[in-house]
Amino acid sequence: MKKKVTKAVFPVAGLGTRFLPATKSIPKEIMTLVDRPLIQYAIDEARAAGIKEFIFVTSRGKNALEDYFDHAPQLEQELRKKGKNALLETLKTTNMESGAIAYVRQHKAMGLGHAVWCARNLIANEPFAVILPDDVVAADKPCLQQMVEAHAEIGGNMVAAMEVPEDKASSYGILDCASSEGRLVNVKGMVEKPEPGTQPSNLAVIGRYILTPNVLRNLNKIKTGTGGEVQLTDAIAGQIGTDDPVHGYRFEGTRYDCGSKAGFLQATVAFGLAREDLHDDLDGYLRGLYAGAAAAQ
Ligand code: UTP
Repeated sequence: MKKKVTKAVFPVAGLGTRFLPATKSIPKEIMTLVDRPLIQYAIDEARAAGIKEFIFVTSRGKNALEDYFDHAPQLEQELRKKGKNALLETLKTTNMESGAIAYVRQHKAMGLGHAVWCARNLIANEPFAVILPDDVVAADKPCLQQMVEAHAEIGGNMVAAMEVPEDKASSYGILDCASSEGRLVNVKGMVEKPEPGTQPSNLAVIGRYILTPNVLRNLNKIKTGTGGEVQLTDAIAGQIGTDDPVHGYRFEGTRYDCGSKAGFLQATVAFGLAREDLHDDLDGYLRGLYAGAAAAQ
């Protein structure tokens, strides 16, 4: 049996420039998908996968994130007084046990690899998960849970992988695949944001990883990669062909890129339609919208 994954790193120190001006004062991860901030989806997914320690890599201006996970005694008291028990229960999902959550600062946005490296002293010598909260995955079994289960069998490093259209490959880390078996892919190469037309496959890495401490050691050595940033992809690629190899995991589910405006809007519609209390209103509205547009043509 491989070592259990109980720690997860949430890199949330990015500038979120694609959502300016909103992100001038609101961290991207606090932006709301239906009625929960993105970070809540990430935490729920981590909990479902058995994560017990939550490490946030933050930066200046992200205080709202720390407050979000704090208890709110006054608010709780008010809700209790008014008998709003359902809301009290909802609020409980945001509470974190004392000591279960830790914050480290990335002083300068030097890329995802650098953000993960900032958490090195809290990870020590065990496998750990990385979750990017702006990638939201809708799935029957949460994506990280699928990966943790596969990782318990196979160990090593694992990256969540999905097929992307050819003309989108240059926006992702792309896998060069040696072979595949079921949902698992043996990786023989990885390239971050390949030049259009040069990608080794159309299998892209999205924001869920299970990594070994060796990746942190690789990050120690890396200076900067594509785009002048310390790329996590390069540090993971350094493990290919070692005793801690790299596997892609073709997860079951639909991923929404909530780091982009179009992706966020798509997720809002999809998650809204999936909600029993909202489905009929939203569905009716969308049908009316399309019928109106068709009639106008
Ligand atoms: P993105 O590439 O989406 O960058 O980061 P960003 O800064 O968040 O957003 P844009 O592109 O300016 O709109 C992917 C993930 O890596 C984290 C981000 O917080 C996000 O979760 N990240 C990125 C860091 O923590 N530090 C960095 O230096 C860069």
